[in-house]
Amino acid sequence: MPSFDCPPACPFTVGRDAALDFPVGQVRRVALGPEGGGDVDETKRNVLKLAAVAGLLGIGAGGAVAGAIQYLQPPAIGLSAYPKVLLLDLDGSPLTTTNVLKEYNVTTNSLYIFNYPLRNEPNFLLNLYPPPGTGPPSPTNPGAMNVPGGVGEYGSIVAFSAICQHLGCPAPAIAYYPPGTCSQTFNGGKLPFYIHCSCHGSTYDVTNSASNLTGPAVLPLPQVVLVTDDQNNIYATSLNGPPVNGHLNSLQGDYGVGSTSQLVSENPVHLCSFPT
Ligand code: FES
Repeated sequence: MPSFDCPPACPFTVGRDAALDFPVGQVRRVALGPEGGGDVDETKRNVLKLAAVAGLLGIGAGGAVAGAIQYLQPPAIGLSAYPKVLLLDLDGSPLTTTNVLKEYNVTTNSLYIFNYPLRNEPNFLLNLYPPPGTGPPSPTNPGAMNVPGGVGEYGSIVAFSAICQHLGCPAPAIAYYPPGTCSQTFNGGKLPFYIHCSCHGSTYDVTNSASNLTGPAVLPLPQVVLVTDDQNNIYATSLNGPPVNGHLNSLQGDYGVGSTSQLVSENPVHLCSFPT
């Protein structure tokens, strides 16, 4: 596998953020109940539940093991099948391929995130086609078209899980890197844009179903299956690939998003290289 590195002059290099230091084995995930709520550290919550089970019930070793197994399972909420969900633009209007091609492109720095199929399963929406008016992709005009699963006029609009397949760091710690960010030293410059996780350095190829390029992750990011209607509205219909990290399957672990899911914009955290 190629190494991932970036010159100190990388325009997106920032100081190391202590908030990105995720201990091995700890997956921080947002889980909201039906009444709403705040961020939940699932690891800590499960440990507290186990302590409560052992202390309050005072059960024997066999029972404690059974309790531990019970409480280590994800919440018994979820969906029985993938829903067809209409994606909404930042302003709440239906998201169309026309708008995406006009407003977002392969050089867009902001992250556009939507949850699907559960409320705690964020995904990147990416348009890999070059900016309007610059022509098709070429060596001097980075971009891609007709990529696997791509929709829109150029087959360039794709969506991938925004939760890293290594230990579950979510966006913006895992982020899309547009052309020119760090391309000169990565894989001989052959991969000018990609998704990279700043937590421990995993990198994914957005032109090839988010296949894994650098470890420690060994699995691709799940890809959202997108479809369009005759109005060019974009829908999410299912996920391809492995389960979303931290879920036994991508349909279990929280409530569904409903019939629509709206994009939100986030600022990426681009570290370029993972400090040792
Ligand atoms: S969580 Fe470790 S590389 Fe992303």
